[in-house]
Amino acid sequence: MHPEHDRLLGESHAILRVLDDVSRAAPLDKPVLIVGERGTGKELIAARLHYLSNRWEGQFLKLNCAAISDTLLETELFGHEAGAFTGATRVHQGRFERADGGTLFLDELANTSKLVQEKLLRVIEYGEYERVGGSRTLKCNVRLIAATNEDLPALARSGRFRHDLLDRLAFDVITLPPLRTRETDILLLAEHFAINMANELGRDLFAGFSANARRQLLEHDWPGNVRELKNVVERAVYRGAPEAEIEEIVLDPFESPFRPQAPGTPAIHPVGTAPAAPTTWPVDFKDAVQAFETDLLERALREARHNQRRAAELLGLTYDQLRGYLKKYELLKSPRANEGGNP
Ligand SMILES: Nc1ncnc2c1ncn2[C@@H]1O[C@H](COP(=O)(O)OP(=O)(O)OP(=O)(O)O)[C@@H](O)[C@H]1O
Ligand SMILES: [Mg+2]
Repeated sequence: MHPEHDRLLGESHAILRVLDDVSRAAPLDKPVLIVGERGTGKELIAARLHYLSNRWEGQFLKLNCAAISDTLLETELFGHEAGAFTGATRVHQGRFERADGGTLFLDELANTSKLVQEKLLRVIEYGEYERVGGSRTLKCNVRLIAATNEDLPALARSGRFRHDLLDRLAFDVITLPPLRTRETDILLLAEHFAINMANELGRDLFAGFSANARRQLLEHDWPGNVRELKNVVERAVYRGAPEAEIEEIVLDPFESPFRPQAPGTPAIHPVGTAPAAPTTWPVDFKDAVQAFETDLLERALREARHNQRRAAELLGLTYDQLRGYLKKYELLKSPRANEGGNP
């Protein structure tokens, strides 16, 4: 197995389903579209598709379409003839030419120009294209894998992405589930990244995560998915004492009372919404206070995207005080609540 897709870990139902899809799609020569939030592993999946295909001995080339200008993208993909433009002194082979017999992975292709989209459609349909500045038609045999974290059908509806190209690319669509829906994978990946980091630091062992740290990992929303988890865990290991358990996970490295604030960041202020005044008396004082406190806690948690440290800050409480209230009102998430559900 090639190291690039060997590293792909996961035991959740959601990721196992994806791996089944990958095994099914890999041997075909049809295009595959990989869709998923930032950092969900789209590039790893693309590599796995290639190395499980019959083209595994061929080239696996990648190009990030968002990283270069439209004109450069066209010459990078299709190459150019000598003299195609000022400075083009020699023939330049494009990625399609160099990937012949292999796989080309086009990352972030949502915002490519109309011209590039048109040329891509033709390559997919007929395996034909011309170099920029050339009239000779070249043939190629390349399997195309594309990835995006954007809503391509919506872009197609609004006219910013070609429908017919989307139809072709979407022969098979593999959607990667966000990390927050794969709770069994969070701890598995965290351990893996922690052990690797400990090795990298020349330590003999990794002493593990405390119950508190594990709970933090499970309760965070992971907007940056696996990439974010990897960074957070590596930092925790690096900052932790070599032989001690990791007690606490710092999710935001910028968290500090001295952090400079952007202009317009709101100062602490009393919450404007008071509980609704009772319309009928008598009132159960304790119930009313509990309803108000529960509502405030829930709103702070939502605002903090379920980062409890941040929620505590928003409420002017310590972390322990907040945990106390959450326990009292039974607002702590059950650790496996999301596992196996639909993203
Ligand atoms: N299932 C997994 N097992 C091990 N490592 C993973 C897994 N998924 C992602 N990673 C790691 O997380 C990081 C992000 O993965 P990758 O670059 O494939 O994501 P992506 O979806 O392409 O992100 P982006 O949208 O930002 O380009 C990489 O370091 C990758 O090795
Ligand atoms: Mg990527």
